[in-house]
Amino acid sequence: MNEILKAIKLAAPKIADALKYADKGYATSENQTGDRQLKLDILSDEIIFNELKKCQSIKAIISEEREGADEINPNGKYIVAYDPLDGSSLVDVNFSVGSIFGIYEGEAIASNLKAAVYTIYGARLELVSALENEAVKLYQLGKDGEFGFVKEIALSQKGKLNATGATQKGWSETHAKLVRALFNEGYRLRYSGAMVADLHQILLKGGGLFSYPATTDAPNGKLRLLFEVLPFALIYERAGGEGVAANGTRLLDIKVNSFHQTSPCYFGSKYEINEVKNSL
Ligand code: AHG
Ligand code: MN
Ligand code: MN
Repeated sequence: MNEILKAIKLAAPKIADALKYADKGYATSENQTGDRQLKLDILSDEIIFNELKKCQSIKAIISEEREGADEINPNGKYIVAYDPLDGSSLVDVNFSVGSIFGIYEGEAIASNLKAAVYTIYGARLELVSALENEAVKLYQLGKDGEFGFVKEIALSQKGKLNATGATQKGWSETHAKLVRALFNEGYRLRYSGAMVADLHQILLKGGGLFSYPATTDAPNGKLRLLFEVLPFALIYERAGGEGVAANGTRLLDIKVNSFHQTSPCYFGSKYEINEVKNSL
């Protein structure tokens, strides 16, 4: 596990650098989910893949930007699934974006998720980890090139922020009512459109709700289980919050049938997730 964390720590500054200086334009290709790829999506994927493939403990690697799993070491213990550049459609407007990693032992299914890590490329380069049997920890890249520990992250019982995505005209009545009820209670809208940045804000501001619901045009939502939804579900649970699907079931209990499977998702502190369950 330490080896994998080290590989992530080597890849992240290279991606932060690429975001500053490399070509921000589109490539001519699409990924597995049909998203148009930026050259930076492909470059970030290569940077991470090249570091992860050196790890003896990794059996296979799954990426948002690759079709199948890449087998690395037949005797490796872990499968690492990652989103190399989350929020990449916001690179052109210079918003914060990130990378997300899920570390699975054995098969890549929810119950095997052992650890999750994300990095966020903003004014600072930060890394948040939820390793096996550990609290959620925030690190920051220092001038010396090392990630220094900043603090542990824990959610309050109730927050103040409401971050909800997807096309509003495609929302269900249930979702629209939930969002409206939170605003009526005094919650404030905070949504950039990069889930790493939006979930990071809620974690560091003590709580709130992030939702990416089902819509009429995307009944299974948009966010992908193995490298977006499940890693954040683990991090939110470890921080004292919860992550649930549209029917209120725990995200970490969802059956994963394919690498690029998506699910509607709700992440938050205890109070807001109870509101989600009560709204059903
Ligand atoms: P990615 O850039 O990896 O494709 O992911 C983008 C995701 C996520 O970061 C964000 O919450 C969501 O897409 C935004 O989608 P909408 O623009 O539909 O709100
Ligand atoms: Mn993403
Ligand atoms: Mn991505």
